[in-house]
Amino acid sequence: MKKNNYNTGSFPLTRMRRNRSKGFSRRLIKENHLSVDDLILPLFITKGKNISEEIKSMPGVFRSSPDQLLKLLEEVVALGIPAVALFPHTEKDLKDNSGTLALREDNLVCQTVRLIKKEFPKLGVICDVALDPYTDHGHDGIVIDGEVDNDRTVEILCKQALNQAAAGCDIVAPSDMMDGRVLAIRKRLDENEFTNTQIMSYAAKYASSFYGPFRDAVGSNSHKMNIDKSSYQMSPENSDEAIREVNLDISEGADMVIVKPGMPYLDIIYRVKKECNIPVFAYQVSGEYSMITLASKNGYIDLNKAMMESLISFKRSGADGVLSYFSIEIAKLLKSNI
Ligand code: PBG
Repeated sequence: MKKNNYNTGSFPLTRMRRNRSKGFSRRLIKENHLSVDDLILPLFITKGKNISEEIKSMPGVFRSSPDQLLKLLEEVVALGIPAVALFPHTEKDLKDNSGTLALREDNLVCQTVRLIKKEFPKLGVICDVALDPYTDHGHDGIVIDGEVDNDRTVEILCKQALNQAAAGCDIVAPSDMMDGRVLAIRKRLDENEFTNTQIMSYAAKYASSFYGPFRDAVGSNSHKMNIDKSSYQMSPENSDEAIREVNLDISEGADMVIVKPGMPYLDIIYRVKKECNIPVFAYQVSGEYSMITLASKNGYIDLNKAMMESLISFKRSGADGVLSYFSIEIAKLLKSNI
């Protein structure tokens, strides 16, 4: 009998490579799968007609005027992507300290929601609840004596959410990280008979440098390049705190939660899925998109492979779905691989 010198117990009875050796077998042993059902596409909108401008820091992502957006949505719907999340770009002169524009029923987001719902009634539409696209200082709430005032901000956010629900959006997504906003919004929606409008809360949102290109896209960094949101967004060092945030939002009536950013926080997604029992979504944010896109443009990594690998890592960590700027490309790849 041939003897080996390795003292590893089962060698060579167990050869892990056997299962990996052929394509059919690799398919059979796949533990996680990505499908088009997992995708949410974030979209940037801007006022006007016939506008489709590429965002410099996010090659391949555009700010679209509503007419152009509808064209893009034809493809989104044809590919079977379940939902989109809308983010408005606002001109400087329409911004103020309290984000007044957020409450107008004829603002760009509300107009766009109505248009989408008319053309594509079955496409899920998610609206961001936060004031940063509308405030002249770029914070998610109103600033009083140099601080973002929690309770006054929550009152405005309730009105903003109600405004979006009235325009017909399916899901409101508070991304502001104020305390108590989920409960306040849930109550306000219910009092106004929007009991079926879902709340997808950005429950664990970190004060992250990976949002840089997004702030460029919505124009919320026009005053300060590195606006500091650490008095309301979470510190990257913390993980138990994320679980508290998620549990609080669940007790306040959240239907689903988001962990944001995505790839640097896979451990948080994993914990939320294991410990909290609620649908959890990863937000692969603008900085993550730009890193993958620009590295591949320089020939350092393969775009399609890196894109797919990043998305499956979210699924493996326990995410039920992913908000990704790659959603269209991913959906196309998934389709062509069948
Ligand atoms: C703000 C908001 C941000 C993003 C979504 N909503 C940025 C921020 O908190 O400054 C970031 C998304 C991205 O980077 O792709 N309400």
